[in-house]
Amino acid sequence: MAELKIELNGLKLKNPVLTASGTFGYGREFSDFINLADLGGFIVKGTTLKPREGNPYPRMAETPSGMLNAVGLQNKGVDYFINHIYPEIKDLETNVLVNVSGATIGDYIATAEKINELDKIPGIELNISCPNVKEGGMAFGTRCSSVAEVVKAVRHVYKKHLMVKLSPNVTDIQEIALTAESEGADSVSLINTLMGMAIDIRKRSPILSTTTGGLSGACVKPIALRMVWQVAKVVKIPIIGLGGIMNASDAIEFLLAGASAIQIGTANFIDPTVTIKVINGINEYLDQNGFKSIKDIIGLV
Ligand SMILES: Cc1cc2nc3c(=O)[nH]c(=O)nc-3n(C[C@H](O)[C@H](O)[C@H](O)COP(=O)(O)O)c2cc1C
Repeated sequence: MAELKIELNGLKLKNPVLTASGTFGYGREFSDFINLADLGGFIVKGTTLKPREGNPYPRMAETPSGMLNAVGLQNKGVDYFINHIYPEIKDLETNVLVNVSGATIGDYIATAEKINELDKIPGIELNISCPNVKEGGMAFGTRCSSVAEVVKAVRHVYKKHLMVKLSPNVTDIQEIALTAESEGADSVSLINTLMGMAIDIRKRSPILSTTTGGLSGACVKPIALRMVWQVAKVVKIPIIGLGGIMNASDAIEFLLAGASAIQIGTANFIDPTVTIKVINGINEYLDQNGFKSIKDIIGLV
C-alpha cells in the first residue's frame, strides 16, 4: 500500500480525494453510500451571508457528456449552517471545508469571519468563480484587481487554510492564480464551471431560466487539466485540480499535471461511491508502477 497522505500548506489530508462544492450537499446525503471518514475531505455547498433562494427553474440541462447548471448558490445562509449543519458534521473524521460566496467584499469578509470561529472547520474555499449569480461570484474572479481585493480582504480576517477557487472563464489563468497567491491564498482550486448555454429548438428559447449556466462533467476535463498544468508552472502554493474527473485515471492525470489533490463533482451524481473507487484506483496505480507515495507523481508531466 503506497502512502496517500498529503499536506496542503498545513492542511493535512489522509488522501488526495475531496468532493466539489454543490455536488455533495453537506456530506450527510452520501453517508448511506460511503464512509465519509474515508475521504481526504469534502467541501460543503456554497454558503453566503444571507439565505439565497437560487435561480428559478429550470436550472439544469443535460449535455452529451456533462451538465449545465444554474442553481445560483441556493443555501440557507451562514448562520443556519453554523446552528444547524455544523453541529451534525463537526465530529466527522475528515476535513470539512466551507465554500464561501458573496455579492460584495463585505459579504465575503463577514461570512469568513463567522466560519473562522468554528473550531472543526480547518479551511474555506473562496468561491470567486460562480457563473450563475448576478452580483459577485464570477465577477470577482475574472479580473486580477478584484481577485486581489477579495483575497486580501478575506486573508485579513480568516486565519486558517484559505483555498481560492478559480474561474476558467478567463483569458489568462496563470495571472489570476499568481494574484491569488500573492495576496495570501494558501492554495488554489480549479476549475469552477465553464459558462455555457442550451436551446430548446421546439420552443425556440433557452432551456435554463437564466439563459446561460455552468458546464461541468466529463466534457470539461481537457480544459481543466490544461489549466492545472499551466498554473502548476507558475505558482508555489498547492493546486487542487477538478473538472470532469470521473474515475481514478482522470484523477491521476490531474496529479501528474501538478495538482496535489483533486475534487470530484458531477461524477457523484452518477455514482455516489465514485470517490472510494478513485481512492482505491490511485492506490493500485501507485503500487503497480512502483511509487511509494502520492507525492512521487505530483507534477511528473
Ligand atoms: C449542481 C452544481 C452546483 C454547484 N455549486 C457550486 C457551489 O456552490 N460553489 C462552487 O464553488 N462550485 C459549485 N459547483 C461547481 C463544482 O464544484 C465544480 O467546480 C464543477 O462542477 C467542475 O467539476 P466537475 O466537472 O467534477 O463537476 C457546482 C456544480 C454543480 C454541477
